[in-house]
Amino acid sequence: MKILITGSNGLLGQKIVKLCLKRGVSFLATSAGENRNQDCPSQFYQSMNITDVDNIQTIFQSFRPTHIIHTAALTNVDYCELNPEECQEVNVLATQKLWVEAQKINAHFQLVSTDFIFDGLTGNYKETDQPSAVSIYGQSKVDAESILIQSDNTNWSIARTIIVYGTANNLSRTNIVLWSIDALTKGAPMKIINDQFRMPTWAEDLAWGCIEICNRDKKGIFHLCGPELMAVNEIVFRIAKHINKSTDNVEIISSTTLNQPAKRPPRTGFDLTKSKLELGYNPKSLEETIEILLKEI
Ligand SMILES: NC(=O)c1ccc[n+]([C@@H]2O[C@H](COP(=O)([O-])OP(=O)(O)OC[C@H]3O[C@@H](n4cnc5c(N)ncnc54)[C@H](OP(=O)(O)O)[C@@H]3O)[C@@H](O)[C@H]2O)c1
Repeated sequence: MKILITGSNGLLGQKIVKLCLKRGVSFLATSAGENRNQDCPSQFYQSMNITDVDNIQTIFQSFRPTHIIHTAALTNVDYCELNPEECQEVNVLATQKLWVEAQKINAHFQLVSTDFIFDGLTGNYKETDQPSAVSIYGQSKVDAESILIQSDNTNWSIARTIIVYGTANNLSRTNIVLWSIDALTKGAPMKIINDQFRMPTWAEDLAWGCIEICNRDKKGIFHLCGPELMAVNEIVFRIAKHINKSTDNVEIISSTTLNQPAKRPPRTGFDLTKSKLELGYNPKSLEETIEILLKEI
């Protein structure tokens, strides 16, 4: 197995690199900028702009991966809402380019997708449920998925996930668990919504699932998230309880007061039956992962 990773500077990309190094899996890490992950040795890294087909061709032809795990994306939901053309170019058109080039070298192509493909009216989504996005970002992932789902070639997989958290090097943005630990420890004021429900996902569990799909030569759609559904404010309250910090400075608010450009699905969450059965996926609880994170911070 030779894995090419896109978006290796991102949170998930860094965890896939970490797991490949640990397991001795041959890999090439690629991302838009310079290598910002100091745990990824420079000989395993090349800059690759996924919107540039010549760049993709050169790197695919020289490395010749057996598997591509495509994590790179514009992931800021509000930025995508305000910049729909750029979102289309990076999340949809680049996926199309990567898929075309992957087929030329007979490589398995895995797209990492999101719970935001759903409208969030019911929750507990199965792989077979029909998408109905409520944002430009969500729709871009629906469109990227459709490129694979509608293809005659079935050598692809889609790994969908939900709010990913964990530590990594030089991330361009924080995540809810790291931010909460930091703010609660400092006693800083926090405003947290109580009307959106998610299954937060430890990045290392997700990375394990993405690689396991390749390892087991699985095809099709897989849901990979944390094991528990909770309101966003509950994430913060559980962290506070576990690390024994006060929530006096935590203010509960409704998402409607935020006036965010992009709509969010109120209740997502995945049914994990298929991933547990077919991959042996067994994600850790929030509290188990906080213990690990505290040692890493
Ligand atoms: N994080 C979440 O809560 C979450 C939830 C659901 C689904 N997902 C999906 O999971 C995947 C990974 O998420 P993440 O949080 O790890 O993302 P992330 O930390 O935002 O990283 C995304 C990476 O994509 C790279 N990238 C952006 N434009 C690129 C381009 N034109 N060419 C090459 N690389 C480019 C960036 O590279 P540089 O840093 O080098 O610029 C960045 O490191 C994404 O597909 C996302 O949609 C994430």
